[in-house]
Amino acid sequence: MSKYIIKGENKIEGELNISGSKNSALPIIAACILNGEKNILYNVPDIRDTNGMLNILEDLGCKIKKKGNKVIIDSSTITKFHIKDELMREMRSSVIIVGALIARFKSATFSYPGGCEIGARPIDLHINGFKKMGINIDENTRYMICKCDRIIPAEIQLDFPSVGATENLMLAAIFTDGETVIRNVAMEPEIEDLEKFLNRMGANISGAGSNIIRIRGVKRLKQVSYNIMPDRIETGTFLCYTAMTGGEIILNNINPDNVLPVLSKLEESGCKIYREPRRVILKSPKRLKAVDIQTLPYPGFPTDMQSIFLSMLTTAKGTALVTENLFENRFKCVPELIRMGAKISVSGSCAIVKGVKKLVGTDIVATDLRGGAALIGAALKAKGTTIIENCQFVERGYEKLENKLQSLNIDFTKEG
Ligand code: EPZ
Repeated sequence: MSKYIIKGENKIEGELNISGSKNSALPIIAACILNGEKNILYNVPDIRDTNGMLNILEDLGCKIKKKGNKVIIDSSTITKFHIKDELMREMRSSVIIVGALIARFKSATFSYPGGCEIGARPIDLHINGFKKMGINIDENTRYMICKCDRIIPAEIQLDFPSVGATENLMLAAIFTDGETVIRNVAMEPEIEDLEKFLNRMGANISGAGSNIIRIRGVKRLKQVSYNIMPDRIETGTFLCYTAMTGGEIILNNINPDNVLPVLSKLEESGCKIYREPRRVILKSPKRLKAVDIQTLPYPGFPTDMQSIFLSMLTTAKGTALVTENLFENRFKCVPELIRMGAKISVSGSCAIVKGVKKLVGTDIVATDLRGGAALIGAALKAKGTTIIENCQFVERGYEKLENKLQSLNIDFTKEG
């Protein structure tokens, strides 16, 4: 297993271009199944999760060509509609491929994606929406077999604004002979990026970014090339890393409007932030002030930023309350932070973080993607050297992290 070796107490200083968004690239890669054409995607982050999704499309019969952050996906050669178990397990978010397969081929078979490190990750909202659209789902022991003669345009009310369910149902509704209305949908920027991509293909979708999305079915979709939006969680991650180290950073190629909840909490904690249309400049105070956060669906504070922000609060002045409202197991990095000297107590969905003056580097273990990113933040701040095992978790969602941190005056190496 590979590990990161980080020498702490260096200030982040410099300028960085943010990569394309993992959580926008994944549904857009899946959506390339729909048109049976050769599609070109730019600014696709070269990370484990996007490569996992591309492997699944290749296994279904797509022809994939990758050159850096440019990916060509030819979906005219798809021959099967069964997502392999091991690929599904490796990439549970590949469940959004199901909507695209059903839309085009009226058939999809997959094994239940199951939970992951941060929670049970049910897909009941996806399944209930498919059933409302007239899709028969045979849930036998091992597989979910989805079949239908025709997909019916439906009125769907989501119990919860699930990102994945919103995306999956948008894809499934693309070719119906009427209008599908989905209410209480997720409003994340990645949903807007997906709508833009699908309409570029010739779909007829409106409402992304609001809580109601309307999909008017079309007969066919054309070939498309598209530039993936910047990654708002990577943006927030580097802003928090900078704030934690007392440094200053210029982030380019970003959309500051997508990270407003994080920017406002960083300002509340004492950072100076200057926003321009495609970039943000952050200057940190000598010591951050403790601020409370609670995670909510967009436009609330993003759950994907919770662990990283919590890690930043471990050395802020004062006590902070962190409330995680979306996932049931997203404080897994806390025991490792405590081993570095942090003072955190967790009870249910809340963590109380009592700021300490310093953290001390030691050997720690990453347990999930964003929890691993949080441990890196703590290591940047800590006295001495920190070794982080299991860094493959982090490489699921952060592209060229080693080069990026090294370019920002950080003593960071990877072994194995
Ligand atoms: C997406 O996951 C993101 N992943 C997650 O990012 C992100 O944390 C999450 O949205 C919330 O913003 C991708 O986009 C690939 P949800 P998703 O469905 O779609 C419950 C990262 O670190 N729920 O919005 O799986 C669910 O249990 C990852 O980049 C149901 O109950 O999230 C959770 O409590 C982690 N039934 C809540 O909704 C369902 O059918 C939010 O889940 C679906 C979801």
